Amino acid sequence: MRYKTPLRMGAALCIALLLHALAARAQERFSLFVGSDPKTVERMVELAGLRAGETVIDLGSGDGRVVLAAAQANPSVRGIGVDIDAKLVKEASLKAQELGLSERVRFEHRNAFDADLSQVDVIFMWFFPELMRLVRVKILEQARPGTRVVAPLWGFGSWSPDAVVKEPAEVSLWVVPAKVGGYWSWRLRAGGVERDYAAVFEQRFQGLEGVVRAGNRHGIFHDLKLHGDQVSFVLMMTLQDLGFTRHEFSGRVNGDTIQGAVKITLPPKSNEEDEELESVVLPWQAQRSATSAFFAPTGVDVR
Ligand SMILES: C[S@@+](CC[C@H](N)C(=O)[O-])C[C@H]1O[C@@H](n2cnc3c(N)ncnc32)[C@H](O)[C@@H]1O
Repeated sequence: MRYKTPLRMGAALCIALLLHALAARAQERFSLFVGSDPKTVERMVELAGLRAGETVIDLGSGDGRVVLAAAQANPSVRGIGVDIDAKLVKEASLKAQELGLSERVRFEHRNAFDADLSQVDVIFMWFFPELMRLVRVKILEQARPGTRVVAPLWGFGSWSPDAVVKEPAEVSLWVVPAKVGGYWSWRLRAGGVERDYAAVFEQRFQGLEGVVRAGNRHGIFHDLKLHGDQVSFVLMMTLQDLGFTRHEFSGRVNGDTIQGAVKITLPPKSNEEDEELESVVLPWQAQRSATSAFFAPTGVDVR
């Protein structure tokens, strides 16, 4: 483009710089404001299954209707709403005042990405699908295991919901799973013999698979379940000096440890069909490890 005068060129440059500055300052909007209809809000609050003293957050709280409904329905629940639109934040704060909820509910002018998700029990949200996917990363990184996420309409891609209601509006619930994938080890004493177990878990969201070595035996875990910080699985394995056993593990994941119990059902002592099987319940504590004892390094014998 040719400019006839230096003045015009200067003006064009100024406009270009201004536009550039505005673009750099613009906050990304994940969607425009469309308030959830009353039936959907009711379903969302119901599905969240709020308990006394819990804290909820709505990412993109709009006029505040979801947070306010949650606080109204549960007298000891605290609520936080964050929205990119300052006008909506003001409107929601005024509504909270009118409803006498300002003590327990606050609305902040904030990008959803800057919200602190580490101290809340329930996350509500309703963004465009691709932005739901983007926030998924933040939720899985920041929210505590067991945090419930409730959203209408669109989901989180391959992270499948733990519960869905279809009528009168589709609303889904996800429970943030603890991080279990990786290497774990523990020791158990059964039949008078102490054994080391080295487990390898693979995890995709709440889905788990795993294998384990105990002494010179290998096995695959069955019936694995992960719900928030609660994990359980079954192992059927022939143990040296003991025979074919069934282990039922269940415990609570807390960072790099799992604490719980294991029920070990021992092999029958005779061939009698109606013989009652003997079982023992032992405390179970597993520790995360940086490397796995599952594979013996080259040149090292296994027991
Ligand atoms: C579809 S509305 C949902 C409003 C409310 N949650 C409801 O269900 O009634 C989405 C809201 O997200 C807000 N929003 C969009 N992008 C955002 C962002 N990056 N951070 C925070 N809020 C955002 C919009 O201003 C709008 O109020």
